[in-house]
Amino acid sequence: MSDYLKRRAAEAALAYVEDGMRLGLGSGSTAAHFVSLLGQRVSSGLNVVGVATSEATAELAREAGVPLTTLAETPELDLDVDGADEIGPELALIKGGGGALLREKIVACASKRMIVIADASKSVETLGAFPLPIEVVAYGKNATAAAIEQTAAELGLSATLQERQAGAGAFVTENGNPILDASFGRIPDPKTLSDRLANIPGVVEHGLFLGLADLALVASPQGVTEIEA
Ligand code: A5P
Repeated sequence: MSDYLKRRAAEAALAYVEDGMRLGLGSGSTAAHFVSLLGQRVSSGLNVVGVATSEATAELAREAGVPLTTLAETPELDLDVDGADEIGPELALIKGGGGALLREKIVACASKRMIVIADASKSVETLGAFPLPIEVVAYGKNATAAAIEQTAAELGLSATLQERQAGAGAFVTENGNPILDASFGRIPDPKTLSDRLANIPGVVEHGLFLGLADLALVASPQGVTEIEA
């Protein structure tokens, strides 16, 4: 059911794609549906180019026949379409469950508009049940983890940090960095947490996407709901 709903949300996003657009292509299973559906439109004559936020998405785009460019060649994009791990009030998002948060945030910032696509299980009243991915520099990562815990305590939050694993070893992002998944339980003030985390040396980027999404297309068995920021 959830996969069916992800595809419905991805289909709804196609209505916002116009000929000639430069697109940000998100990562994850919902964004993958969008890329494959976009490929069908391209094979029927739609003219777009995409910037992929991960190697997995680039591979899917190549398979689907979606022409790719890079942010170096095309630094301004018209529309970014991406999934989310949680969608909270004012379209505040947690992203990075797939580990692509840094590239996803760079691409979202380079886009005039961002549309989030998701099934209804991603909508929450308060962010934070999903652990917040924090990409850090490997050097000094234990000190960075301690600084994150200290920051959380100062904000009245308790954070349990876990370094993300992949198979037998530590997960490494496509930028060569580890990820600390921070379980806060609830994040009542995402803006303050976002600002404070961004100020910690060693934090490369975190998965709070605030003020970036313009529209969410959330699919439930009753249909697709459009939520504007
Ligand atoms: C990838 O790093 C993430 O930000 C994804 O956008 C997020 O995890 C949503 O993924 P799904 O669409 O697979 O749920």
